[in-house]
Amino acid sequence: MKKLLLHLDTDPIPSAFDQAVAYDSNVDNVIAYGGITRDNVTPHVHGMIFTRGGKNLKNSAIFIGGSNVPASEMVGNAVKKAFFGPVKVSVMLDPNGSNTTAAAIARKVMSDYDITGKKVVIIGSGPVGQRSALFLLKEGAAEVVITSRDITRSKAIVHQMKEAYGIDVTPGQARSDESVAALLKDAHVAIAAGPAGVCVIPDIAWKNSDSLEVIADVNAVPPQGVEGLEVMDNGTEKQGIRFYGAIAIGNFKMKVHRGAIESLYESNDQFLDETTIYDIACKVDKQ
Ligand SMILES: NC(=O)c1ccc[n+]([C@@H]2O[C@H](COP(=O)([O-])OP(=O)(O)OC[C@H]3O[C@@H](n4cnc5c(N)ncnc54)[C@H](OP(=O)(O)O)[C@@H]3O)[C@@H](O)[C@H]2O)c1
Repeated sequence: MKKLLLHLDTDPIPSAFDQAVAYDSNVDNVIAYGGITRDNVTPHVHGMIFTRGGKNLKNSAIFIGGSNVPASEMVGNAVKKAFFGPVKVSVMLDPNGSNTTAAAIARKVMSDYDITGKKVVIIGSGPVGQRSALFLLKEGAAEVVITSRDITRSKAIVHQMKEAYGIDVTPGQARSDESVAALLKDAHVAIAAGPAGVCVIPDIAWKNSDSLEVIADVNAVPPQGVEGLEVMDNGTEKQGIRFYGAIAIGNFKMKVHRGAIESLYESNDQFLDETTIYDIACKVDKQ
């Protein structure tokens, strides 16, 4: 029986990237719709759950994407509500690649590196920064700071994370090169999770820190998010610090994304979100 993937995107045009990864993960056919909201998703879900019965249901699955992460999460909740008891299919939620990317950052940072008791500073508090904070705290980091240019925004995000995950993240403000240098002064790990094409960690910030051991950057668009880091760096040592660039992290992210899609077809009852996608990243890391 053919493996079908219903691709539901909250953006008007469904992501070509996510569809390409689906085909590279042995999906036979992708059925893609854009403009999906929690209010219009139910008939699409019914189209998947009422066409194949019993054990054949595991050959159908749903992927939820889109650049608006909260909107995609609401679609995820609506998809769950549209299921009837065992009449369901497996679902993967990876809006804007946030879950797979953050899982890849965390695993790369922890390549032959014990995060226990370390201080992590993440410049940028979008979905990727937030999920990276979650994974690293759960793995034993002593403190994780996430920053905004506006401290009221980072405080609000930290509050939301406490409510969603029960974790204590420290809010920070990164308004200038000097403020980033001050944040990194006693940090062990620095992660650039700012927007594409913006350098958020100048070299004076990391060169002035005596404590930094690992620096990672997910921005693949020049200039890099970290001055002095190369996009291909993959544990490259510079001045005693290990650097991971966006290509090294992106290559691992692709393996996690493909692994997650493939695992959807193992049963019809999985919901792959940030937590379960991180578990898949750990398995991929061990292979
Ligand atoms: N390689 C991959 O496969 C992959 C996949 C997904 C994402 N990414 C990359 O991951 C990064 C983060 O993604 P995201 O979705 O979390 O991003 P996002 O939602 O756009 O968040 C970016 C963060 O950067 C801050 N920011 C915005 N403009 C800034 C500026 N000019 N200077 C300093 N900070 C600024 C924002 O905070 P304030 O506005 O509050 O200051 C926000 O916290 C992006 O570079 C994206 O390209 C890579």
